Amino acid sequence: MSTDDIPARLARALAAADSDRLVYDLAGIRDQYRRLLAELPGVRVRFAVKACPVDEVLDCLAREGAGFDAASPAEIEQGLARGVPPERIHYGNTVKSDAAVAEAYRLGVRTFATDSIQDVAALAAHAPGSRVFCRLSTTGQGALWGLSRKFGCSAEDAVRVLETARAAGLVPAGLSVHVGSQQMTAEAWRDAFDTLADVLTALAARGIVPDLVNLGGGLPALGYLDRHGQRLDPPLDKMFAVVREGMERLRETSPVPLDFVMEPGRHLVADHGAVRAHVYRLTTRRQPGGATARWLYLSCGKFNGLYEMDQLCHRLVFPGRTGAPLVPAVVAGPTCDSDDTYGADGHRTPVPEDLASGDPVWILSAGAYATSYMTQGFNGFRPLDCATTDTAPDAPADTTADTLAYAVPGTWVAAGPEGTD
Ligand SMILES: Cc1ncc(COP(=O)(O)O)c(C=O)c1O
Repeated sequence: MSTDDIPARLARALAAADSDRLVYDLAGIRDQYRRLLAELPGVRVRFAVKACPVDEVLDCLAREGAGFDAASPAEIEQGLARGVPPERIHYGNTVKSDAAVAEAYRLGVRTFATDSIQDVAALAAHAPGSRVFCRLSTTGQGALWGLSRKFGCSAEDAVRVLETARAAGLVPAGLSVHVGSQQMTAEAWRDAFDTLADVLTALAARGIVPDLVNLGGGLPALGYLDRHGQRLDPPLDKMFAVVREGMERLRETSPVPLDFVMEPGRHLVADHGAVRAHVYRLTTRRQPGGATARWLYLSCGKFNGLYEMDQLCHRLVFPGRTGAPLVPAVVAGPTCDSDDTYGADGHRTPVPEDLASGDPVWILSAGAYATSYMTQGFNGFRPLDCATTDTAPDAPADTTADTLAYAVPGTWVAAGPEGTD
């Protein structure tokens, strides 16, 4: 693969890196955010913090006007520390303890997801008077990660939950859905809107008129390969069209103006983050059964950022090796754990045959969930350092004067211009 389809800014930052790191392209994330708002006018974004709890990324989105979907008091605190007011942060996790609810309320959050009458009772006790939205379950069909069982309730339960909330002095503010992460079909969105419309009608019959519809996450990244190495090609334009139609339909039937919120995670950051890793070794070994197989071991794998490799493959770039003869190899991470292997069993990736230990490799579309999924040192492999690259705010649009910042986890520092790290 050539580096042609990597944004130049990201490619420059990766090329300038002389040690392993995860690089986020803030200008790319900003553009992606603006594209999303242009596609879905009127939607307010609450970025799902878990997808990339990196201060610089949160700052970048907050400056654009995004708020945060937080799943714990610690994520709320992180959002507040970025200067985002509590009104732009909601507690989007239906799973929470009494103490967590009370802490979120103390921090100023007044909007909470819920999906059970037990959780509603806790909210009434520890977050009195708050606005609650009830998460409806979805089938998760068509998504790489379905999210269909742990969260959400049936349409009938949602009516009961919001009636209970009203009776307990909470504000039954709305409904939410999540169609499943990396959803690959527009039909899942259509189904979600059908359910939302039905439940809004049922609520209206009981005198409950929500003003909030939270469409959750699920919008896909475009740069992944499936477990067998085939490009994943989600019909994004069609999805946006279905969401626009669905929003219009709900607006037409609602007696009050509806506030539409979305909680994208992956869609905003996945394709704008990449790992600069390096080659451990390309080996040839006879496998059980007698066939010879090549294995390419890399410095980054499942336990230092690429946890999602069970479900997908990342595109790899071997800088400086374009044009070299390619050989098929199973790719794996550095740990002494057989789960730390890229893609489906037996999946082989074409790799340059002359790779040497220490050669750089770029792992693309690694910007979502990677920082959250890093272990603290499985087998002694420490979490990846992080870096950001951005267009200098005062630079003309066509300049190459990007800036690069990098640091070890937890101690972010701004470095000088590109290439000086
Ligand atoms: C409540 C909620 N909102 C949003 C997201 C973000 O989802 P995605 O990264 O698929 O956009 C998640 C992810 O699990 C979630 O649980």
